[in-house]
Amino acid sequence: MAKITFVTFDGVRIEADAENGSTVMESAIRNAVPGIDAECGGACACATCHVYVDDAWQEVTGEPEAMEEDMLDFAYDVRPSSRLSCQIRVSDELDGLVVHVPERQA
Ligand code: FES
Repeated sequence: MAKITFVTFDGVRIEADAENGSTVMESAIRNAVPGIDAECGGACACATCHVYVDDAWQEVTGEPEAMEEDMLDFAYDVRPSSRLSCQIRVSDELDGLVVHVPERQA
């Protein structure tokens, strides 16, 4: 179990509990975080679950894999901290994770 904080583009902080083995995207959808669309349902095929991982957490969440990297090309305003939240798997290590929601999805 991990507590994840989503910070919306407007600066609203939404705290969510996430089960180990689920994804950060699933936690966002369950908690109705605005700005996370997740149109493909987590198949790494839409890039509408794009988030920015907070600086302090980038080492823990790691780098995107090749398929995610390719799909990120379709996201809006991609930065070095960009990840697709459906590709971040929740574990105890991620307890306290902070991610920022972009201004809009692609
Ligand atoms: S939900 Fe479609 S790429 Fe993440």
